[in-house]
Amino acid sequence: MLNDELNDEWSGWLLNRRHGGDAAQAARVQATVDGYVERVLEGAALTPNMVMADIGSGEGVVAWRAIERAGPGLQVVLTDISAPLLRYARERARALGVAGQCRFVECGAERLEGLESASLDVVTSRSALAYVADKPAALAEMFRVLKPGGRISLGEPVFRDEAQAACAMRQMLECGGAGNALLALMHKWKAAQFPDTEAAMAASPIASYSERDLLRLAQQAGFAGLHMELHMDVRPNEVTDWAVFCATSPHPWAPGLGEIMEREFTPEERAVFEAALRPEVEAGRLTTASRMVFLTAGKPDNRG
Ligand SMILES: C[S@@+](CC[C@H](N)C(=O)[O-])C[C@H]1O[C@@H](n2cnc3c(N)ncnc32)[C@H](O)[C@@H]1O
Repeated sequence: MLNDELNDEWSGWLLNRRHGGDAAQAARVQATVDGYVERVLEGAALTPNMVMADIGSGEGVVAWRAIERAGPGLQVVLTDISAPLLRYARERARALGVAGQCRFVECGAERLEGLESASLDVVTSRSALAYVADKPAALAEMFRVLKPGGRISLGEPVFRDEAQAACAMRQMLECGGAGNALLALMHKWKAAQFPDTEAAMAASPIASYSERDLLRLAQQAGFAGLHMELHMDVRPNEVTDWAVFCATSPHPWAPGLGEIMEREFTPEERAVFEAALRPEVEAGRLTTASRMVFLTAGKPDNRG
């Protein structure tokens, strides 16, 4: 891994902070992501010789699996705003022997520069639209680059509940709970990772939308035949190693608990918090929730 890959907020998270640098956790995360990718590609309904674009392609996981599923006739355009990730994906494509089927374009989802209008059969995006501030612009661009009859298949996390929990903690502290030291520390932790006021939620790309908003925005962009599914899983947190728990973070913009404690807690607060939380983590008593929205839709073919 190169230094600029680690320093880039996107690749630094995908390649390290997502799993805290722990091989076992990396394997568990990969298995979960693989499931999401399969779901997105089922929705894409690929056939051989299609041209697809994956927006916010990251390491290229959607692209590689799409090529495996659809075969050597599939052409894939990988777009991303992160130059280090595009470089990483380009090297992976070479190593996998699929570079001839791939094109790499550095651009934001809001403006798909270099992608011609009505040139693609399928547009996919997995956990990338979530981070785009102007989602209507991104969906309008997906609509523009698709051929009539083409389709989108998206799989995005929904973080509203985490933000609402952080808001609730803030409200409890403001309404007489200030004496609750553990609650104050929990709030410090969660507020460093998610917006904790209604205004901050509205301004945050990751917390300003629900699954229903994505459906509505896609419809407003002109898509038809929309189908949305919300998958929610609540299960025991599989990370039971305290160091790994402190090193992982839930999304690219969130620091891990270790960094938050280092930056925002006094040494006494750190000791209190660790004494309370660490036994819960190590006993596997914490739960973790994931919410993923899967959306498929088509660009109407009005050519009669
Ligand atoms: C959580 S990662 C997901 C990567 C990949 N889609 C996957 O499924 O593993 C988010 C990706 O979105 C990209 N990204 C963030 N903001 C973007 C934007 N405005 N336009 C395009 N890509 C963006 C990041 O560089 C990163 O690769």
